[in-house]
Amino acid sequence: MTILITGANGMLGEECVKLLSKQHFVVATDLQDGLEYDCAVTYQILDITDRQAVARITEQYQPDTVVNCAAFTDVDGCENQRELAWRVNAGGVENLSAALQNTSCRLIHISSDYVFDGTAGPYSEEQPPKPINYYGQTKLDAERIIGKSNLPWTIVRTNVLFGNTTLQKASFVRWVIEKLRHFETISVVNDQFGNPTWSYGMAEAINKIIEKDARGLYHYAGTDYLDRFEFALKIAEIYDLNPLLIRKTTTRALHQPAPRPFRAGLICDKIKRELDVPSYSINESLTRMKGNS
Ligand SMILES: NC(=O)c1ccc[n+]([C@@H]2O[C@H](COP(=O)([O-])OP(=O)(O)OC[C@H]3O[C@@H](n4cnc5c(N)ncnc54)[C@H](OP(=O)(O)O)[C@@H]3O)[C@@H](O)[C@H]2O)c1
Repeated sequence: MTILITGANGMLGEECVKLLSKQHFVVATDLQDGLEYDCAVTYQILDITDRQAVARITEQYQPDTVVNCAAFTDVDGCENQRELAWRVNAGGVENLSAALQNTSCRLIHISSDYVFDGTAGPYSEEQPPKPINYYGQTKLDAERIIGKSNLPWTIVRTNVLFGNTTLQKASFVRWVIEKLRHFETISVVNDQFGNPTWSYGMAEAINKIIEKDARGLYHYAGTDYLDRFEFALKIAEIYDLNPLLIRKTTTRALHQPAPRPFRAGLICDKIKRELDVPSYSINESLTRMKGNS
């Protein structure tokens, strides 16, 4: 099978490239040059906001599946740069849908718990979305664009992704580890809840979706539901770092441009029941990550 992955240099994209290329021919794409891969992976630069480039690449490789991991994921950046945020997160999906219509290629798109308002999480697939920031709005717009298309599609929502990928840029886990290793004090909010998700587990879920040709909307996340402060404490524990350097703060005190859903996170019973996908605790994920780093 030929699988085209967008956003392949991102945290999830890289994990998907590594896992899916064990069994499939993968075309990895992103804005800039990526990793050197083995022969099962071809790398191409692709900006998903460029409709003609998207059409050209899908025409050239004729993928059986596209996994759209590309996104503008900086939540405050999206609040301040709305036009760009929409062009990447929703316009990019319009371009993919347009390029793939009249083909049998299926589109697997990654979405977020930020489509919810965070008053009643964790959320199941049946609960109505109601984003409270512009990032969440663009993710919901993308879901609606896909829902209206005539493509075979799967949308997988996840939350608080973390992993050990080579090209990984800013990530909460990396930030906590780096700061504590340098004996710096950090302030972490104790009022934003979610179920942090190991990017490797998420790649496994996507692999299962491909294997079983599962369609529709799924939630996938880790097994522990907790706030960010508690998550930081777990990181310190597993990585043998000083937890006393972690101070509690509140979202309000941070004065971030984008409002955050407080009780977010996802209920993942459907994907477990239908696809028998494993999900991981924070302890297991971080312990295995530490072992591999
Ligand atoms: N991270 C989380 O906690 C989280 C939670 C819920 C859902 N998600 C969703 O999961 C998916 C993957 O997230 P992630 O954490 O892996 O994100 P990430 O690390 O930020 O990766 C996204 C990748 O997409 C690239 N990209 C940005 N604009 C693009 C464009 N116009 N065309 C092609 N590529 C572009 C980025 O490049 P640059 O870095 O150069 O911009 C980056 O390499 C996204 O859909 C995200 O919304 C993430």
